[in-house]
Amino acid sequence: MENIKQKVQERYTQVAQGASCCDSSCCSDVSDKAQHLQGLGYSDTALGDLPEAAVAAGAGCGNPTAFAEMKEGETVLDLGSGGGIDVLLASKQVGPSGFVIGVDMTPAMLETARKNQEKANATNVEFREGEIENLPVDSDSVDLIISNCVINLSTDKDAVFAEAHRVLKPGGRMVVSDLVTTGDLGEDVKKSAEAWAGCIAGALDRDVYLQKIRDAGFSEVVVQEEKNYAEGMPIVSMNVRAVKSTCC
Ligand SMILES: C[S@@+](CC[C@H](N)C(=O)[O-])C[C@H]1O[C@@H](n2cnc3c(N)ncnc32)[C@H](O)[C@@H]1O
Repeated sequence: MENIKQKVQERYTQVAQGASCCDSSCCSDVSDKAQHLQGLGYSDTALGDLPEAAVAAGAGCGNPTAFAEMKEGETVLDLGSGGGIDVLLASKQVGPSGFVIGVDMTPAMLETARKNQEKANATNVEFREGEIENLPVDSDSVDLIISNCVINLSTDKDAVFAEAHRVLKPGGRMVVSDLVTTGDLGEDVKKSAEAWAGCIAGALDRDVYLQKIRDAGFSEVVVQEEKNYAEGMPIVSMNVRAVKSTCC
C-alpha cells in the first residue's frame, strides 16, 4: 500500500512539474490539453478564464463542476485538487461569499495550485495538504464535495467515502467524476503499481463503487453520466451524485 501511495505521489509530482502524466489524455502542450479537457465537458469560456498553468496541470477524467449546480455562498471541498483547475472554477461559481477548499497529498501539486490561485487572484480559496482518507476538514462543515479522477487512486476507498460523509453538512451533496471498471482488467494490470498510479489498476467495479458510497451512509446515489474512457479496456468515466441525508 505504501509502495502504491509513493508511486502515486511520484507520478503527480511529475505532472505538477509539467511532464505529461500517464496516457493519451495527458498532453504537455496547453492547447492540446485544453482540447482534451473540452472533450471531458469543460467549456472553452471557462478554460479561457483560468491561468494557463492550471489548464496544463488538469488531470481529470470528467468535469464535476458542470454537474454540481453550485450556488453563491456555498462551501465546497475538492478531494485531490491537483493543480487547482476545479477549485478555481468553483471559486467563481460560489462567488466572494463562498469558500473553496482543495485537499491534496502531493506537495508539488499544492505548490502549483497555490501559484495558480495567486495568478487567478482567487481570495476565497485555500489549498490544504492532507490525505482524502483522513481529511483536514471539520465535521458537518461543507455544502458540496467535488472530486475528479482521484478516488480510484486511493487504497482505502471506504475511508474516503466515510470521511466525505463526515465533513458534509446534513443535506450536503457529493458530485464525483471517476474511473470505474465494467469488466475484468486481468491480474497483471491489477498487480501493477504503475497502472495504479495511471488511474487504471485502482479503479473499482462500477457497482461495487456505488455500493461503497451507499455503505458510507449516502442516499440518492445517481449516475449522471458514463463514457467509455480507454479503448480496448473495460473502463468508463462516470459522474455520480450522492446526498448526505438531513436526518438520522
Ligand atoms: C489524476 S490527478 C487529478 C487532479 C485534479 N482533480 C484534476 O482534475 O486535475 C490526482 C490528484 O490526486 C492526488 N491524490 C491521489 N491520491 C490522494 C490521496 N489519497 N489523498 C490526497 N490526494 C491524493 C494526487 O496528488 C493528484 O494531485
